[in-house]
Amino acid sequence: MNNPTEAYPGSIFSLTDHEIFVVTARSDGRDSGQIATWIVPATLVPDRPRVAVVISQQNFTHSLLAVSGRFVLNLLSDEQHELLPRFGLRSTREQNKFDGMEISRSPEGIAVVPGTCGWAECRVVSSLDLGDRIIYAADITAQEIYPGRRPLRKREAFALQPPDILEKLEEKHRIDGARDSAFIRNFGY
Ligand SMILES: Cc1cc2nc3c(=O)[nH]c(=O)nc-3n(C[C@H](O)[C@H](O)[C@H](O)COP(=O)(O)O)c2cc1C
Repeated sequence: MNNPTEAYPGSIFSLTDHEIFVVTARSDGRDSGQIATWIVPATLVPDRPRVAVVISQQNFTHSLLAVSGRFVLNLLSDEQHELLPRFGLRSTREQNKFDGMEISRSPEGIAVVPGTCGWAECRVVSSLDLGDRIIYAADITAQEIYPGRRPLRKREAFALQPPDILEKLEEKHRIDGARDSAFIRNFGY
């Protein structure tokens, strides 16, 4: 089976193996979190740490992030592969993904996932709407690293999922791709 999150099968990106994050956001008393892998550092300037994050406008987490202009990147550790379906398969519109989880809060009150390699709270400074996705540039305003833990990566995370979950991830990937296909075509470029 193809890796269900492979954006372009057969391309150079099929050779990459991204770290897995949970992006959390909060607005109007509501919390949400989603899996994200399209996240990279975006400056070399050490005293102005900045990231670029690619997010779907259709995600509930995005609706909170867009209002608050803030989010937290939680870098999952290699022992957290069960969090992939919890945060990546369904939407907060359908269920509270933090149920039974002892979260803490970042300085701005955003949910911080326990057991990760670390987290970074970010403030949006700019965005670029591409129709199917928005690229956010954001400054890191607070962060914590927990030494001795190894980041979870896509290949390992998928290898550890049971077959029924893999099937569901693949189906969601297909449905999201079809949805995004309409958005990108209507965008005009
Ligand atoms: C491995 C993996 C990587 C993902 N990467 C991203 C990503 O970089 N950006 C994004 O917007 N969604 C990404 N998703 C999809 C969201 O996590 C998913 O649609 C989630 O259910 C949205 O939840 P929400 O509606 O509660 O925000 C990814 C999903 C998986 C399984």
